[in-house]
Amino acid sequence: MIKTIKTLTVGALALAGASALSLSPAAAKTTKVGLLLPYAGVYAALGTEIDKGFMLALEQSGMAGDFKIVREDTEVKPPVGLAKARKLALQDQVDVIVGIVSSGVLGAMRDFIDGAKVPLIVANAGNNDATGKRCSKYITRVSFSNGQITRPMGKWMYDKGIRKVYTLGPDYAAGRQMIEAFSKAFTAAGGKIVGSDFTPFRKTKDFGPYLTKAKAASPDAIFVFYAGGEAISFVKQYSSLGIKKAVPLYGAGFLTSPLYVKAEGPAAEGIITSLHYVPTIKSAENDAFVKVFKAKHGRLPSEFAVQGYDAGRTLVEAVKGGASGREALAAAFAKVSYNGPRGPLKIDPATNNVIQNIYVYETVAGAGGLTQKIIGKIENVTDAPNGCKF
Ligand code: BEZ
Repeated sequence: MIKTIKTLTVGALALAGASALSLSPAAAKTTKVGLLLPYAGVYAALGTEIDKGFMLALEQSGMAGDFKIVREDTEVKPPVGLAKARKLALQDQVDVIVGIVSSGVLGAMRDFIDGAKVPLIVANAGNNDATGKRCSKYITRVSFSNGQITRPMGKWMYDKGIRKVYTLGPDYAAGRQMIEAFSKAFTAAGGKIVGSDFTPFRKTKDFGPYLTKAKAASPDAIFVFYAGGEAISFVKQYSSLGIKKAVPLYGAGFLTSPLYVKAEGPAAEGIITSLHYVPTIKSAENDAFVKVFKAKHGRLPSEFAVQGYDAGRTLVEAVKGGASGREALAAAFAKVSYNGPRGPLKIDPATNNVIQNIYVYETVAGAGGLTQKIIGKIENVTDAPNGCKF
């Protein structure tokens, strides 16, 4: 069981980790980690942020010296991600792979991970199938599944009186799954999807034609999934084309992530979304995390930082508990459970996906710029096994 981090200073946290180190049976062995993230392309900022969170967890543990990190870049391209996973597992002989931002990349490497029996801690990619019909005992996800983020918004929006929605998302696994989960839940509640479009992923620069078509359908709201560079472009164009004045915008919370909401500016104000972490969560664990992250990086952490951080904590605790080698590490990751910055976090034994709270937040103007006002909370959101058999 990972100890809850209370309101400790950076020094105290390092000390806590250092004393744990002296008790650790696994301290002498180096664990080789393949950190597989996009450092280029449309999700480069997300990869860099996950890296920062991951390294923070290792530093705090006082055991950073026990890990050897080999970094590889997926470039957000499935064939590149698969080739790099093969290189890390076969050539570098890593004990564990951590990372993966894109659902497309995760889908491409799932069979290799399972066949090579190399444990993978997923620190972002929400591909439902990786903890559903294509689950593997070697894959543990500490981030979220795509359905877990958007499904709760179907009922939540219907309960707020919204009846007709137009959906938009990028045309790849994450876009399709995020929109499908929302649409199913919204129609089950009694709502109607009046139109839907998927925009070419990594290629769409001009969202104007899609936004104009959405507005013409006269929905009560538009619901979207976009992240990274695409989220910034989409939100800015939603405002500059005047759609913001006519139709309110909802979506998965990556749309207005604290990582890049500053770049979106006033265009993001008033957008309502759902997510598993925002830095405005009130708890001793989150206060401590925000304080340490801010002291190191001079700004608030995003959901991507927390995902990297929780991936790091998962790894540290497994090693502290004595796990060594691929099989033992994979088994230890699946037993993780603690109160972290996002709230209670535990791994579902039926799927190896994280069980966690989902927060509905509105992006609002605050004293220090745009901030995340929490207006709803759905507790302990769990996925159905969806065909997962270990
Ligand atoms: C995905 O591809 O799974 C994903 C990418 C960015 C944010 C959220 C999900």
